[in-house]
Amino acid sequence: MHIVIINGPNLNLLGKREPGIYGSTSFEAYFKSLQAVFPEHELTYFQSNHEGAIIDELHAQGFSCDGVVLNAGAYTHTSVAIADAIAAIEAPVIEVHISNVYRREPFRHHSYLAPNCRGVIAGLGLKGYELAVRALLPD
Ligand code: DQA
Repeated sequence: MHIVIINGPNLNLLGKREPGIYGSTSFEAYFKSLQAVFPEHELTYFQSNHEGAIIDELHAQGFSCDGVVLNAGAYTHTSVAIADAIAAIEAPVIEVHISNVYRREPFRHHSYLAPNCRGVIAGLGLKGYELAVRALLPD
């Protein structure tokens, strides 16, 4: 199976960015360990700080891959356009947040994306990405 992981704005700084909230591991390092957990599956990774680039990637991958793990960062709380892109594509999408957004500021409690996603994982750290990949694979 081909699972695509998409990270949104500021997630390129994982490991350096607010480590008390997001941890001290870079996503590049975590992604290597994640690929090692699923050697029989193809995992690809894309990150952008730009809303349109995230939408372009959803369009490019969303009709051919088997599932998308999406952490849209702050766009989760603002982007009708990414919500529409998730609705437009065929691949199921799992929304992931490293932090427990429900323990944080009220503006992080609302997701425009979640209604169009298969499921949501929040607050479990980077482990959430592995759980999301597992959720997209057949039993
Ligand atoms: C985040 C939570 C968002 O509210 C925040 O804007 C992020 C990261 C998370 O992974 O916990 O950039 O999506």
